[in-house]
Amino acid sequence: MGETVLVTGGAGFIGRAVTAELLRRGNEVRVLDSLIEQVHGNRDHPEDFPAGAELIVGDIRNKDVVTRALQRVDSVIHLAAEVGVGQSMYAVERYTSVNETGSAVLFEALIDKPVRRVVTASSMSIYGEGLYEDADGNLVQDAERKPRTSDSQSWDPLDAQGRPSGL
Ligand SMILES: NC(=O)c1ccc[n+]([C@@H]2O[C@H](COP(=O)([O-])OP(=O)(O)OC[C@H]3O[C@@H](n4cnc5c(N)ncnc54)[C@H](O)[C@@H]3O)[C@@H](O)[C@H]2O)c1
Repeated sequence: MGETVLVTGGAGFIGRAVTAELLRRGNEVRVLDSLIEQVHGNRDHPEDFPAGAELIVGDIRNKDVVTRALQRVDSVIHLAAEVGVGQSMYAVERYTSVNETGSAVLFEALIDKPVRRVVTASSMSIYGEGLYEDADGNLVQDAERKPRTSDSQSWDPLDAQGRPSGL
């Protein structure tokens, strides 16, 4: 039998995919997401939000909202975050507030509403861009992804000859 899972940040890029997969596996899913404008524009309902999931629009730093979202929940997947690595270098207070304090509020609320399991996301900054293979088949560590100069340009890092590297 499925569980009831709270997915914080469940309206985001990873959260929507996780939510859809949880629903596909027969779980009930509740999403807590503040729908920040930078990610969702002015929408009051996120694009591609998986049908069948419950949505609570609220801030992960708000203990009352978090406590409400934890009602009758078996597990939590914590993905609510500000995720711009470059932006985090100058919007320091906002990033630490959402990512650190937000997580702290969630874990403090879990003391009174314990669940079977909590899964939280690590950061791409931990594992970097990953291991790439250049067009000649050589493995490349620490490949650097530069800003694209046109829509037709590959998202993948380019080698010295401008050829895209694969994963
Ligand atoms: N996308 C990746 O490649 C990747 C890789 C490694 C780790 N991660 C981690 O996975 C998590 C989710 O990343 P993503 O790529 O889906 O980001 P995303 O920006 O698409 O999703 C984050 C969601 O959190 C919500 N949110 C932001 N602030 C909030 C707040 N104060 N309260 C409630 N909700 C809030 C946003 O509205 C958004 O829907 C992050 O912790 C990120 O660091 C992502």
